[in-house]
Amino acid sequence: MSLMLNDVRVARGKAHIIAGLSLPPLPPGSMTALIGPNGAGKSTLIHALAGLLPARGSIRLHGQALETQPAAERSRRVGLLPQTLPQAVGLTVYELLLGGLLTLGLARDEAEQRIERVLGELRLAGLALRALATLSGGQRQLVALAQLLASEPELLLLDEPNSALDLHWQLAMIEAIRADVARRGAIAVLALHDINLALRSCERVIVLHRGACVADGAPQTVLDPALLAQVYGVAARIETCSQGQPVFILDRLIRPDEV
Ligand SMILES: Nc1ncnc2c1ncn2[C@@H]1O[C@H](COP(=O)(O)OP(=O)(O)OP(=O)(O)O)[C@@H](O)[C@H]1O
Ligand SMILES: [Mg+2]
Repeated sequence: MSLMLNDVRVARGKAHIIAGLSLPPLPPGSMTALIGPNGAGKSTLIHALAGLLPARGSIRLHGQALETQPAAERSRRVGLLPQTLPQAVGLTVYELLLGGLLTLGLARDEAEQRIERVLGELRLAGLALRALATLSGGQRQLVALAQLLASEPELLLLDEPNSALDLHWQLAMIEAIRADVARRGAIAVLALHDINLALRSCERVIVLHRGACVADGAPQTVLDPALLAQVYGVAARIETCSQGQPVFILDRLIRPDEV
């Protein structure tokens, strides 16, 4: 039981963005960070996993090929928090969440219970009756997280879910996802630019570079200075802080003539 990718290929227009990606299985209850520079293909891969871009090769969730599943079934099983949030529509937070769950086929009672639980757990109940258009960028990102968690997908895809969040909410977001995957045995994949967040929150990191996986494993093992230099063109290192935790330190840019 896992997410399996075998020889996955994704094109955008005529450009082959992901060219033959195969990965060891992502098991239930796991959180994996997808990292890599701008344009590496993180969002492309996430959209392909979500069924929003056509992919060749094989993507199997718990043994079932996702591409052969009806769209409604796939959207129940795979949930996405996109990098670019949809424009705020003329709805309240509660209406948005309820509409989403009813569209997935939930009965109204169950949908209402889930919304109450998720908004309570995230401490967002105070936003329930606010119009989406009146929320700040970070608040909208949290509502998108609530929507994802309320839909209880087997696979959670989060594309830079912390990009608009303050320090408190970045940790709250990570804790909520960790609790959710642990409780339900779901699988989470998070595209992240924050290496420290990846280090402290994910047991595995997959490094994408030009559409290919160039490293895959435990963050502390994988993120060595040579790889960081190759992929990002920076001098950087991971050290152990005074509390014994790994910390990422960014030193400087590496000029092209240094390589
Ligand atoms: N609609 C599109 N048509 C053609 N090429 C695209 C399209 N969208 C993205 N690309 C290209 O695909 C490549 C991968 O883009 P993608 O958005 O997956 O990168 P990313 O790793 O998510 O980057 P970022 O960290 O900036 O979000 C880039 O070279 C990008 O220019
Ligand atoms: Mg992206």
